[in-house]
Amino acid sequence: MLPPADLRYLHRCYDLARRAGSAVYPNPPVGALLVHHQTILSEAHYERYGGPHAEARCIEQLSPSQRQLLPHSTLYVSLEPSSHHDQTPPGVDLLLQHRIPRVVVGTIDPNPLVAGRGIARLRAAGVMVVVAPDPRPALHLLGGFALRHREKRPQVLLKYAQSHDGFMGLPNRPVWLSNAYSKRLVHRWRSRIDAILIGTNTAHCDNPRLTTRLFPGPSPLRIVLDRRRRLSPKLHLFTDGHPTLLVTERSEWTAQWSEVPAVEVLHLPFDQTLLPRLLGALLERGVDVVMVEGGARLLGTFIEAGLWDEARVFTASAALGGGIPAPSLPPHYLSQHLELAGDQLDYYRR
Ligand SMILES: NC(=O)c1ccc[n+]([C@@H]2O[C@H](COP(=O)([O-])OP(=O)(O)OC[C@H]3O[C@@H](n4cnc5c(N)ncnc54)[C@H](OP(=O)(O)O)[C@@H]3O)[C@@H](O)[C@H]2O)c1
Repeated sequence: MLPPADLRYLHRCYDLARRAGSAVYPNPPVGALLVHHQTILSEAHYERYGGPHAEARCIEQLSPSQRQLLPHSTLYVSLEPSSHHDQTPPGVDLLLQHRIPRVVVGTIDPNPLVAGRGIARLRAAGVMVVVAPDPRPALHLLGGFALRHREKRPQVLLKYAQSHDGFMGLPNRPVWLSNAYSKRLVHRWRSRIDAILIGTNTAHCDNPRLTTRLFPGPSPLRIVLDRRRRLSPKLHLFTDGHPTLLVTERSEWTAQWSEVPAVEVLHLPFDQTLLPRLLGALLERGVDVVMVEGGARLLGTFIEAGLWDEARVFTASAALGGGIPAPSLPPHYLSQHLELAGDQLDYYRR
């Protein structure tokens, strides 16, 4: 158990880390603060890839008189300080140079280049290092970064909407279930992920765009499964100019596809290895977070394979009375419940 004050300061680090945007990629978001006798001297988050780390920014902000307090202060940081050179000097060197005597860390770094070495070096130099006994909040913040190193796959988010009576849609007919607020929120989520994946029937029935047109920010890569190449090249996914990756097992092209410029094709066998191979291929392309946006069959295969980290499920107030049943998720994974102007939003975390 961490003393309540340490826990409070660590949670502040997590809040700070959440301020880091996509500019830190491919490094993870990190937050840090310096405390002297229950007074916060400075706080910072990692701002951009190649820039100073959060702990370095904390120290940079101090006045000369505050710097003198460092040998009597505690540094709180959401992620273990680095012990190796990347674009900046190791965080550990800086802490030793300023003779900071106590460091409280949210989690050990899952990157094998660090993985406990930073903490070991600090301890070897006489620094008292406390690691949070529950690393889950800090690891959750790392999201795709942690999974890239630990499981060699991107973070997988499942997202779908269901009617009040548990249906996702009607066969061969697009149905809009969630409200305008939920729709905008989904566009915001899209602006923060790398890729969206959908199944063949969803592409065929809904003809979605899967862009961020309702929220500022980049649109993710769209990925669509089409084992038998039965989708029309006239769908928005293939004609609106945004990149789309089409995953298929067929190598033949029909003449109508020769005019489609923005589509890249990935050939994979559609057997039990499909999902792990697809996730591996995405990771190699730099995809750290992929959101699976349906339909029911595709979501179901991710759930059955246990290849998901978080699910975001909207439940609308209207009933459909029948249709395509929504997947069911184990209730013990339910971690948060919100209301959005009549829609329910449930987060499930594994
Ligand atoms: N409410 C929502 O949030 C939401 C979201 C998306 C879609 N929808 C609705 O859901 C319906 C479509 O759902 P659905 O379950 O019928 O279809 P789907 O999951 O979109 O697509 C299923 C098809 O994709 C291919 N596929 C998907 N996953 C595969 C896998 N793991 N391995 C092999 N092939 C795979 C197969 O095509 P082949 O048979 O050609 O191999 C399969 O028949 C539509 O009505 C749509 O409107 C609702």
